[in-house]
Amino acid sequence: MTTRRQFLSTLASSAGVLATSPAFTHAAQAAAPAVRAGTLPRNASETTGRHYRPRHRFGLGGVPLAGAFKPTPNADAQGALAAAWAGGVRYFDTSPWYGIGRSERRMGQFLSEQKRDEYILSTKVGRLLKAGNPPDSKVWPEPPPFHRVYDYTADGVRRSIEDSLQRLGVERIDMVFIHDLSPDNRDMGERWTEYFDIALKGAMPELIRMREEGLIKAWGLGVNAIEPALRILKESDPDIFLSATQYTLVRHEDSLNRLQPACAERGVSIVVGSPLNVGFLAGVERIDYLGTITDDLRNRRARLDAIARRHGIDLRTAALQFASAPQTVSAVLVGARTARQIQEDIASMQVKIPADFWAELKKEKLIAEHAPVPA
Ligand SMILES: NC(=O)c1ccc[n+]([C@@H]2O[C@H](COP(=O)([O-])OP(=O)(O)OC[C@H]3O[C@@H](n4cnc5c(N)ncnc54)[C@H](OP(=O)(O)O)[C@@H]3O)[C@@H](O)[C@H]2O)c1
Repeated sequence: MTTRRQFLSTLASSAGVLATSPAFTHAAQAAAPAVRAGTLPRNASETTGRHYRPRHRFGLGGVPLAGAFKPTPNADAQGALAAAWAGGVRYFDTSPWYGIGRSERRMGQFLSEQKRDEYILSTKVGRLLKAGNPPDSKVWPEPPPFHRVYDYTADGVRRSIEDSLQRLGVERIDMVFIHDLSPDNRDMGERWTEYFDIALKGAMPELIRMREEGLIKAWGLGVNAIEPALRILKESDPDIFLSATQYTLVRHEDSLNRLQPACAERGVSIVVGSPLNVGFLAGVERIDYLGTITDDLRNRRARLDAIARRHGIDLRTAALQFASAPQTVSAVLVGARTARQIQEDIASMQVKIPADFWAELKKEKLIAEHAPVPA
């Protein structure tokens, strides 16, 4: 096992390189749920047989608490983190990009006070933060004074992790995801393959070295599209993917039919991000960051919501449990802005959903016939 000191000595210098829809307002008006600590789902072991997987199947994602789409006061963010912890959440995911440093700083404020062995932490690499004018971004309305420089080189990865450790105030990171190396990244578009080629020679072998050195337990991609993950399975040796927006009640066929079988074949597992399609399945008028809510999506959400209500559950609960059902899924990350939201989301994972509900979704062709559903 490489020590932190050795890690620092091997660190190469950084080279160049909404409104709520009426159908859902009942959730906001109801009393905050009682949360039973210690009853969140866990994996039986920390390995798929071939690769590391986190023990904790439910985690808190660091996007909303960094002020995505609208400012989140730090008191709310700290409240969300404390409520997550009190409710038994022990997996936390963040990124230098979330709030352009703010998510890592806020998570670190809370997590650096906890015993490091008691929780799992993932962050991302691929963007280095530099002092200067922040990018003009619809996702981060009040950014701190940093801009980002894409860097998927080996040096860039070491530098990025070192920066993250400092912002987080912790000694190690368990899982590292190469962030947004994907055609849906608007900074890249079709040019994502050029960045991919840099990562293939730089970031990926470096992360494999860091795994061998014991500095990290696992690495993979953190992306919102299927193609980059399929490609890296053929060309490198990842352990786990953070696949966001791709496995939800309203979008799952591609993941189910292409990504999950390819992962299963290699013993690679998936952390599902954005199980609510970034709020859409919790009733928010937003989908997948800057996506468009089509009539078809709105219609399917309304039908899903009506069936859920008839079975006495709410749609957010169904969405969170649905995302967690496949065997290839190691964990589900939900984003929460407040203590109240994460308490409700924890409670959602503790509800028993009647089998008839899932059967009706299949009969109505709202979910794929072969989609795994919670037992
Ligand atoms: N490329 C990547 O690596 C990648 C991409 C996406 C996500 N992720 C990870 O996955 C995590 C989860 O995804 P996400 O944050 O994008 O989206 P999400 O979990 O699908 O949705 C989060 C949003 O849903 C709403 N929400 C959550 N709980 C609620 C509740 N109980 N009641 C009402 N509304 C509720 C909130 O909307 P409001 O904000 O409007 O209150 C919240 O911001 C991220 O935070 C991140 O850690 C990674």
